[in-house]
Amino acid sequence: MLRTALLLFALALVLPGAVKKDPFGRTPAGEAVDIYTLSNAAGLEARVMTYGATVVSLKSPDKAGKKADVLLGFDSLDGYLKEQPYMGAIVGRYGNRIAKGQFALNGKTYKLAVNNGPNALHGGLRGFDKRVWAAEAKADSVVFKYSSANGEEGYPGKLDVTVTYTITNSSELRIDYRALADQDTVANLTNHAYFNLSGEPTILNHLVQLEADRFTPVDSNLIPTGEIRSVAGTPFDFRRETTVGTNINAKDEQITFGKGYDHNWVLNGTPGTLRKIATVYSPQSGRLLTVSTTEPGVQFYTGNFLDGSLTGKSGRKYIQRSGLCLETQHYPNSPNQPTFPSTVVKKGVPMTSTTVWQLKMLP
Ligand code: GLA
Repeated sequence: MLRTALLLFALALVLPGAVKKDPFGRTPAGEAVDIYTLSNAAGLEARVMTYGATVVSLKSPDKAGKKADVLLGFDSLDGYLKEQPYMGAIVGRYGNRIAKGQFALNGKTYKLAVNNGPNALHGGLRGFDKRVWAAEAKADSVVFKYSSANGEEGYPGKLDVTVTYTITNSSELRIDYRALADQDTVANLTNHAYFNLSGEPTILNHLVQLEADRFTPVDSNLIPTGEIRSVAGTPFDFRRETTVGTNINAKDEQITFGKGYDHNWVLNGTPGTLRKIATVYSPQSGRLLTVSTTEPGVQFYTGNFLDGSLTGKSGRKYIQRSGLCLETQHYPNSPNQPTFPSTVVKKGVPMTSTTVWQLKMLP
């Protein structure tokens, strides 16, 4: 037993990950969609498809060694093609909200599709999550490419986007983003995976820790007011590992606006530096997710809009709080908030960022 465990551990250190490609269906327009399976010797397996550069599943062992999928989503392409809240997808050109769907850049005002109350959300009516990306498999990674045309969804400039998923020997799925524009534009790229590390109906028993002393309060339309507020003494204090359910129904204006947690935390440390920013732990399964990023913020969203109307993997109904998202990002509405870190992508200057999900188990 011990010898086998040691052998597997040694193999995990020396063996590169493997990548396999399969067809996954067609879009209504007839575009072929492929799915790639990335696996490593430590037992982590990710499936990523060309529709939305979406992570369809992420399987990892629990404390008993039993492998299970820790992401919400669908068994087949059909589920992803229907109206659904960005499960596992890359969102862009601008992840999260832009107030009133407009912003000014270099003295010109740009109007975007308004698809969330008065605001633009997650790239518009047909964002990056609803496009078929080109893909190329490498030894332990898949490189996805999408070229967003000048004027697409109202955004200025052509934006060439590359998202690379890499499986590492440290039980990580690493996401590298790169975007290059042919004129000045704005961009905010993230992945919108919903995690549930235990397989229980909700994530209320998960323990979350965030490396963030501050967050950006919102108005009733979930647009940051511009204030940067300390988490001390609020339900937003996750500086120490805290059970998600503890304060999620607190009598607090911000909780009311978000219907729970749906806010941007201002991450400690230096943006641009890959640093550990969050952990999520399920005592039930023993799985520990560690998130690292170069981004300045993270949208911690507790699946508040899920209402049981969606049927997902294995016929499961996705009820409110059945998954949680940690969308590493620049702050929402940055194009209209000059005090926030800039989301402007200058012509010819590549924008890059990295986010890493590590999945381990604790006994
Ligand atoms: C983000 C937003 C939420 C919601 C989800 C998708 O997390 O902040 O308000 O729109 O995406 O349903």
